[in-house]
Amino acid sequence: MKLLVTGGAGYVGSHTVRALLAAGHDVTILDNLSTGHRWALQGCELIPVDLRDTHNLSRRLKKRGFEGVLHFAAKSLVGESKNHPAIYYQNNVGGTTNLVRAMQAADIPRLVFSSTAAIFGNPVSDLIDEDHPKAPINVYGQTKLVVEQMLQAVCESSEFSATCLRYFNAAGANNDAKLGEWHEPETHLIPNALRAAAGTGNPLTLFGDDYPTNDGTCVRDYIHVDDLASAHVAAIEKMNSSSGFNAFNLGNGNGYSVKEVITACEKAVGAEIPYTIGSRREGDPATLVASSAKARSELGWTPEHDSIDEIARSAWNWECHRRDNLT
Ligand SMILES: NC(=O)c1ccc[n+]([C@@H]2O[C@H](COP(=O)([O-])OP(=O)(O)OC[C@H]3O[C@@H](n4cnc5c(N)ncnc54)[C@H](O)[C@@H]3O)[C@@H](O)[C@H]2O)c1
Repeated sequence: MKLLVTGGAGYVGSHTVRALLAAGHDVTILDNLSTGHRWALQGCELIPVDLRDTHNLSRRLKKRGFEGVLHFAAKSLVGESKNHPAIYYQNNVGGTTNLVRAMQAADIPRLVFSSTAAIFGNPVSDLIDEDHPKAPINVYGQTKLVVEQMLQAVCESSEFSATCLRYFNAAGANNDAKLGEWHEPETHLIPNALRAAAGTGNPLTLFGDDYPTNDGTCVRDYIHVDDLASAHVAAIEKMNSSSGFNAFNLGNGNGYSVKEVITACEKAVGAEIPYTIGSRREGDPATLVASSAKARSELGWTPEHDSIDEIARSAWNWECHRRDNLT
């Protein structure tokens, strides 16, 4: 298929571009490079447009013959979203509204959207499936839920199709170490633990150890970024034969505590990682674990890198080699 990937210069987007290319698809990237990187483009054409630039966006999508869009472009820092809600709504909601209108004007019929576990808020069950109540507790999650609702309404009123993929915690890197996670600032546990170990980051602080979990630290579902990438390939290909609105939760179904993740990072690095215990972070539920049964059965998708040790090893491999690639 001839596909457009917004945010394809970012972390999850670039790994998905790699998987789409490997599956034989023709990929063009649209990105404003606000948090994305030129080194992640992998030889694809870049359309350097901001989704908020309605006019240019529409102009650049016309007459290109795109058959579908995978939409990763968004701002995704929970803390930042609290301090700058209007910017988050403008970028994530306004940007997606512009994208959908430009797609409709260019007759592009299908969209895969990067959604998030943050739309669920505080869990009311151990495993979070697609029907779990949606009650986001931060602005970032609100913007993603509003987009899901907008996409559902558009699908119900036209020939447009949208699939929302709600990731839990994306982690790890492709094994060839040519792509990996590089956010500034970095808020994710695994790269921060590894950088603390390597002396290239700040000392590690855990946000609370008094949660009602086995060791008192928060439990999360870490999913390897290459497994997210393969789910996107399956989702866009499935949309050739099915239409309308759909949503899938993507995780491993295994929860690991912050301390267990640090142990996995220590094994990968071969050294102890010192940390201090800080206070709880506002808006952090004790446990967030996905049920991905629907994705497994309807997309025929199976995560292939579900061990936390493997995820930590792949992230460490990237940390060790990324300096050669950040050009
Ligand atoms: N990383 C995770 O753990 C995680 C979890 C759940 C959901 N998500 C979602 O997945 C998507 C990708 O996340 P990521 O970690 O790869 O983020 P990222 O910051 O690495 O990538 C986002 C990309 O979008 C681009 N972008 C942002 N705003 C844009 C705009 N207005 N116009 C054009 N380009 C723009 C950035 O330059 C960047 O290349 C996001 O939508 C995020 O909300 C990520």
